Amino acid sequence: QELQMNLEQIEKGGYDHFMLKEIYEQPSVIKDTYRGRLNANLGIVQMAGVEDNIEKFLNAKRILIVACGTSWHAGLVAEYIFEEFTRIPVEVEYASEFRYRNPIINKDDVVIAISQSGETADTMAAIKLAKENGAFVFGVCNVVGSSISRESHAGAYTHAGPEIGVASTKAFTTQITVLTMIALRLGKAKGTLSNTDFHTYLQELEIIPEKVKEALETNDRAKEIAAAFKDAPNCLYLGRGYNFPVALEGALKLKEISYIHAEGYPAAEMKHGPIALIDEHMPVIVIAPKQGHYDKIVSNIQEIKSRSGKIIAVVTKGDTQVRELADYVIEIPETSDALSPLITTIPLQLLSYHIAVMRGCNVDQPRNLAKSVTVE
Ligand code: G6P
Repeated sequence: QELQMNLEQIEKGGYDHFMLKEIYEQPSVIKDTYRGRLNANLGIVQMAGVEDNIEKFLNAKRILIVACGTSWHAGLVAEYIFEEFTRIPVEVEYASEFRYRNPIINKDDVVIAISQSGETADTMAAIKLAKENGAFVFGVCNVVGSSISRESHAGAYTHAGPEIGVASTKAFTTQITVLTMIALRLGKAKGTLSNTDFHTYLQELEIIPEKVKEALETNDRAKEIAAAFKDAPNCLYLGRGYNFPVALEGALKLKEISYIHAEGYPAAEMKHGPIALIDEHMPVIVIAPKQGHYDKIVSNIQEIKSRSGKIIAVVTKGDTQVRELADYVIEIPETSDALSPLITTIPLQLLSYHIAVMRGCNVDQPRNLAKSVTVE
């Protein structure tokens, strides 16, 4: 028993929980993910699985992304990135919906399956269906040799290392890293991404681990905010554009480990429903970096404020406008709009973590949840 405890302590590397350790590993695992694949100086971004099938990707009339849970959120971020960089239409589906609804699958579709474990039953069934219908299936998995990675025609691993915490953290950011690299490679080849933009993104992606590290410095601030809101029964997360999926993921993280009901919404949709919930008891977490639809987000924040909602805003360092309106701000380093999910997601992971710890929840093994869902 004692030996077991000690082993676990060692595995946690000095952190109280696997989840926290995995959150802190993100700068290094993102580097592991792009190592040998990305070189900004040489203007190279390549992955064997993509290079070997480059024609399939370049001729794709459509990209279908299938996934579940957090991996589905990474798929939503990828939808925005792929369409912007490559102009290939993208659809993102819950694997469980896709597999049971007689979906339209064409021979010139590329189906990307995203799965940390590579074992999720619904995602597996979705790719089998896609294969039967003649589509090319590309897997983005973390676990090497997993079922989905073997069932796919080709793929790219995320190299995040083992993820033990049930709530996914480093798998999410490394999935986004892989998908961004694919989009950059295709955007360059198709000419839908200018040379200048291509090189700027390459450079920005290469230094993103440093910025993630800087974003981790929001830990104390996240803890302070957690103390103020740990007893909230509900929580709303808002974001726009690339950060809409981050709002969904922020809400999912909170739900999973703290059991607080949370919802993510595109900020502009707030007026079509969630605004009715806003009063002085409702914490609203708004992702409001300077790049992107900043002015629009500022007016959303004003709408929340005029209804006495409590505003916690994730802003770019040096921001003054939102600071005046928000109850709490969390400052993160500046990056391009498309890459911002890699940064904005960090303080949201930390916030959920601290709230869950303060509520005495089992952070690494939340009730009713499993790390990989191999049943339907
Ligand atoms: C479970 C896990 C989630 C994960 C989802 C999809 O629900 O608790 O963290 O996002 O499965 O898993 P996958 O391994 O396919 O990414």
